Parts: sequence; structure tokens; C-alpha cells
Amino acid sequence: MRVVRLLLCYVLLEDYCSNVGAAITSDIVHQDFSSEQNTATLLDNNVPSFATAIGNVTVASGREAILSCTIRSLGKYKVAWLRKDDMMVLSMGTKTLTNSHKFSLSLENMKPKTNLTTGRNEDEATWKLHIKTLKEQDRGCYMCQVNTKPMLNQVGCVDVLVAPDILTSGTSESEVIVKEGENATLECKASGRPPPTVSWKKEKNDFLLRKNRDQFTKVQTWAGERLELIRVDRKQMGAYLCIAKNDVPPGVSKRVYLRVHFSPTAKVKDELVRSPLGTDVSLICEIEASPRTINVWQRGKQLVSISMIDL
Ligand SMILES: *[C@@H]1O[C@H](CO)[C@@H](O)[C@H](O)[C@H]1NC(C)=O
Ligand SMILES: *[C@@H]1O[C@H](CO)[C@@H](O)[C@H](O)[C@H]1NC(C)=O
Ligand SMILES: *[C@@H]1O[C@H](CO)[C@@H](O)[C@H](O)[C@H]1NC(C)=O
Repeated sequence: MRVVRLLLCYVLLEDYCSNVGAAITSDIVHQDFSSEQNTATLLDNNVPSFATAIGNVTVASGREAILSCTIRSLGKYKVAWLRKDDMMVLSMGTKTLTNSHKFSLSLENMKPKTNLTTGRNEDEATWKLHIKTLKEQDRGCYMCQVNTKPMLNQVGCVDVLVAPDILTSGTSESEVIVKEGENATLECKASGRPPPTVSWKKEKNDFLLRKNRDQFTKVQTWAGERLELIRVDRKQMGAYLCIAKNDVPPGVSKRVYLRVHFSPTAKVKDELVRSPLGTDVSLICEIEASPRTINVWQRGKQLVSISMIDL
């Protein structure tokens, strides 16, 4: 009965098309046509849809990022992954379309389910885009597309974290030389994502910061890229470490040696040394100097010994 009506409708349509052109105005035809459309809509009810949002991922450089695109009721359609920047197609169906080993695809969680209401199978599957050995230039958004009309698409973004690195420009040389009493600035610039925090400490122990004219305070660490030492004292000489850290290990450090030059001072330990005749005596002279000095012992005007000492 229904078949006959549909046939009739078909014939009518043919007539209309050939006689009146594309315009379909008859109520009867329209009604019958729309009832057919209803069955078509029912079939189309099984259109693909995204089961979840792709979401964003944050991954450290060198590692692998995975973006998951879960589609329900894909049917005859295909899923593609594209790089959003340049719309380069990375995968189509289960095939990877680039030569680069960077991208690969895996298909997971195929879950054919029977909908008890409709008696129809509703499958769900996840197309996973793998981006290997992440570099900074892989940061960006990726699009999962289904070739329905209109196109279905969803975007997920990859943020690439980078371990800290100490930059050459903006960072002090490995040795900073100042005269005692001058100001010294130790500088350290670091890159990384997220931006690293930079701090200074002395290699072996706490270090001294001038509080005021004659007072110093001991500090363990100094937070910041610039460590300013006002009117440097010889006690502040030594190796300082700039340490840069962010969420991505490893942290890095750079050693900067602060050398303080000052004029030598000499101190003789015992000004008068007594000893019995015929025994050895040691005369001790303490020299404090930077850079190292050439030290000379004289007796009267006569040279006794020359020595070079290191600090
Ligand atoms: C994902 O990242 C993009 C780009 O950074 C941003 O515009 C978007 O709001 C993020 N989406 C979510 C759900 O966080
Ligand atoms: C079954 O299909 C109906 C109609 O499309 C829908 O409303 C319902 O959510 C589906 N049930 C399940 C469990 O997916
Ligand atoms: C050293 O720094 C102090 C404090 O910033 C400043 O007052 C002084 O003028 C500086 N000395 C020199 C030689 O630049």
C-alpha cells in the first residue's frame, strides 16, 4: 500500500519536474514527500557526534602528547586530524598522512552498544593523535574533523613546557672582578616555559649583604635575576651560583666567581721572636691581598726569600 503511494508520488514528481521545472507546489506531493523525509530523518538520527570535548593537554618537551577525539555513531563517515595552524591533514581514518614519524594514530575503545529503545547499534570510538618527541614548534591547536555535511569539528590544544636554560646574553661572565668598595652586580637571565624563577646563593655557604655602612646580613638565597652588592667587601669574594627552576626538571645553575681586588696588607704574627742559639726559627708574615702578591723577606736591605702565594 505504502509502496504504491510512494511510486505514485515519484511519478507525480517526475511530471512536475519535467513540466513545471523545479518548483514543487502541490500539497499532495509535498505531504507525501515529507513523510518520506521523516524516515530519512530517523535514519539520520544516528549522525556522528562528539562524545566528549578533546580538551587541552600540557606536556614537557621531548615527551609525547596524546589528543583524544571520541566519536559516537560514526557510520560511513571518516575522522581526520589536522594541524590548525596550516590545516595540514595529519591522519584520515586510521592512516597517518604525513611522512614525519612525529605523528601517529591509534584507534581505541570501540564500543558497539545496542540502544534498547531504538534497537540500533551505536558505536563509540576514540581516535588518538600521538605527537612524539615534542618540540616548541609543536605547540598549538589540532582539529578533529568528521566529513559530515556540514563538517563536524573540535579543537584541542597542546602546550609544550620547556625546562629552564640560562641565557648567555643578560648573564654575567663566569668571573666578575671589582675593586673593594665598588658596587658589583651579578646578573642571570633564564628562559623556559613556564618562565623560571631565578635565585642566587653562594656555592659553599651563606653570603653577606651590606645592610648599612659597617653591617652585613647573612642570607642563604637571594630571589631575582640581579644580585646587587653595594660597596663590595673582600669577605664577599667567592663563587656564587645562579639557579633557574620551573615545573620542568632539571633546574640549571651557572657559577659566577666574584673576585674582589684590594691592596695588600701584611701582618707579622710575632714581632719579636726569641730562640736559643743554633735552633731554627720561623718568622710568620700573613699577607692578605687580591690578586695574589709576590712576597719578599728582607734582612736589613738584603733579600732573604721570595715566594708567590695563592689566596
Ligand atoms: C585550550 O587552549 C586554547 C589555546 O591556548 C584556549 O584558547 C582554550 O580556551 C583552551 N580550552 C580549554 C577548554 O581550556
Ligand atoms: C537510545 O536512543 C534514543 C533515541 O535516539 C536516545 O534518546 C537515548 O539516549 C539512547 N540511549 C542510549 C543508552 O544511548
Ligand atoms: C653603589 O650603589 C649605591 C646604592 O645603589 C649608590 O648610592 C652608589 O652611588 C653606588 N656607587 C657607585 C660607585 O656606583
